[in-house]
Amino acid sequence: MNIQTIVIIGAGQAGASAILELRNNKYDGKIILIGDESHLPYERPPLSKDMILRPEQTKIEILSQQKLKDLGVEAIQGNAVVRIEPEQYQVILKNGESIHYDKLLLATGGAPRRLPILDAVGKHVYTLRNLEDSQALVPVFQAGKRILLVGGGVIGLELASSARFKDCQVTLIEQSPMIMGRSPAIISQFLLDEHRNRGVDIHLNVQIANVTLRGEEIVVILESGEELIADAVVYGIGIVPNAQLAIDAGLDVDFAIKVNENCQTSHPDIYAAGDVATQLRADGNYARIETWENANNQAGTFARHVMGLAQPKANPSWFWTDQYDINFQFVGDMSAKEWHIRGNMNPQEDKNVGFTLFGLDQGIVVAGIAVNQARDVRHLKKLVSSSSAFDKEKLLDVSIELRKLI
Ligand code: APR
Repeated sequence: MNIQTIVIIGAGQAGASAILELRNNKYDGKIILIGDESHLPYERPPLSKDMILRPEQTKIEILSQQKLKDLGVEAIQGNAVVRIEPEQYQVILKNGESIHYDKLLLATGGAPRRLPILDAVGKHVYTLRNLEDSQALVPVFQAGKRILLVGGGVIGLELASSARFKDCQVTLIEQSPMIMGRSPAIISQFLLDEHRNRGVDIHLNVQIANVTLRGEEIVVILESGEELIADAVVYGIGIVPNAQLAIDAGLDVDFAIKVNENCQTSHPDIYAAGDVATQLRADGNYARIETWENANNQAGTFARHVMGLAQPKANPSWFWTDQYDINFQFVGDMSAKEWHIRGNMNPQEDKNVGFTLFGLDQGIVVAGIAVNQARDVRHLKKLVSSSSAFDKEKLLDVSIELRKLI
């Protein structure tokens, strides 16, 4: 088939990355990028950190107007797609315009999962997903302000760090017994200690029973009866994939849009990538991987598939978070049950915290976590990819550089 027009819905990480992958792979047809945000594609990771702490010095743009022009992309901004018509190979925009495609990519991402009990308060309640959300938090995170964070995941914890940098009084509530549930217990505990040592009041295993506005204060009553008072509440309790267009178009959707190993949906000419997609894995299960890297990987998979190119072997998954002055990078399967520490993870004994963890499954290294050891990440990826047996004596010997062992 001669592909003349590729339409991409969603101008986020996956959408932008798809453009670059298509052009890098010598696709010379038309690309139309349709985004409902008024901005061109930008990086989201800084929104909870640098964009709050030093917005003027922080550049988040992925593709400028000029770059899009150079790449021959027609960008439609601030105009949402309201319907996909798979039989007609066209999408309908909010303004009524219809646009034809030969191949369509859904890169519509996700939106914060809502907590109606907090939304009902009407003011001083925030979530964080896009640039405007981040900008709205800048004046809120003022020294001395009482900030209540709901959800101890990536968003809640990165915001706790930013709010403490701004000298806010920070309380964080998490419904489960651990924070940063995406990581193993050993890191979750380490993070809990770090946040508490830096003055964050963390409550685990708690549920909100009631929320009221008292003057300009928000009063949150927990099920235990405890009362928390805040000037502002920010909640980050996960995302919901923006899959409504796919549902309406009759595509196979199970919370997220189901895609095969080539990122094709149940319609072979419609693809999905990034947070909106759940992908068939080698073990026969579907998984949604909410990471910056996965958005790029799936965009690459889509581009190569429409170009008829071979897909490379998948790398172990990778994501990171920055909290205070600590950089955490996670490689591979975080469900590994056995973890070994290289270095000293007790910040009390060692001010310059920095260590690496190896996660094992039946003696094989299936995961690694580098904490303030960014230089180890490349080697961890290699180690995990090669399914190597764990050589305890050598790998835990900090006197030997990791690169010399892998
Ligand atoms: N009260 C308190 N905590 C809750 C509640 C609740 N009602 N509901 C959920 N939680 C907790 C979960 O137990 C979990 O620890 O909120 C946390 C949500 O963590 P994540 O799933 O990591 O979601 P979030 O932090 O919102 O991040 C959303 O943004 O930065 C990206 O990659 C990140 O894709 C992720 C997205």
